[in-house]
Amino acid sequence: MQDARRSPHSGLPTPADLFVGRDGELVAVSGMLADARARLVTLTGPPGIGKTRLALACASAYAERSQCPPVFVDLAPVRDPALVMAELAQAAGVEPRSGADLTGQLAAALGNEERLVVLDNFEHLLGAARDVGQVLAACPRLRVLATSRERLRLSVEQQHFVTHRLNHYRAGLRMDYATTTAGDLATAMRTALARSGTGLGYRKVPRGGEVRAAARIAALLAEQ
Ligand SMILES: Nc1ncnc2c1ncn2[C@@H]1O[C@H](COP(=O)(O)OP(=O)(O)OP(=O)(O)O)[C@@H](O)[C@H]1O
Ligand SMILES: [Mg+2]
Repeated sequence: MQDARRSPHSGLPTPADLFVGRDGELVAVSGMLADARARLVTLTGPPGIGKTRLALACASAYAERSQCPPVFVDLAPVRDPALVMAELAQAAGVEPRSGADLTGQLAAALGNEERLVVLDNFEHLLGAARDVGQVLAACPRLRVLATSRERLRLSVEQQHFVTHRLNHYRAGLRMDYATTTAGDLATAMRTALARSGTGLGYRKVPRGGEVRAAARIAALLAEQ
């Protein structure tokens, strides 16, 4: 992710701007992860739709709830499925011992711990899905949240489709006022104000005649 710094406390990259417009999906995926039977939840969808961003928001909510920092593995630069477990080991702070099977070492290290692992951008490494299945089978309290343009095709997998494109997510830059709801507009205004550095906030959802004025203000702020 280009816009991310790494937060030392959460183990997750921290995006530079606000997460907007997917509150319902955040609740839905968080609900899936909260289920004790959840092992692998995969966010699937086309390039650039917002899978990574939604995964980060879900993982951060999970970390807050469980008080245990997630392990984030950025797989975008990894070219070989055989290296996925090594990347996971490195992110989880597991020192590989030469000669021993890495999947087994990971399983031993993560053991019975409650952990959430985010495997980000898995689509070009589907050959490593079997390894993920093996680690999950060996670590009963481990959960994986994956983002991928295609599902991993594991029997324990639950899929969440990210399909709804957020034209307004850049806080009004590409907002289509004909289809934008008052709630979306309020979100856009909050984001634009947060970015404006003015210290101003916006709490209400505009109604009736206020909508046109709110749309104009959001657009002006977005142009700053
Ligand atoms: N809900 C959101 N709020 C704010 N910004 C968002 C949101 N969703 C996506 N973005 C921004 O849009 C861009 C693309 O999103 P993201 O990287 O999450 O897409 P992706 O589906 O993971 O793409 P890819 O398939 O290429 O991995 C990023 O700059 C991201 O920060
Ligand atoms: Mg992504």
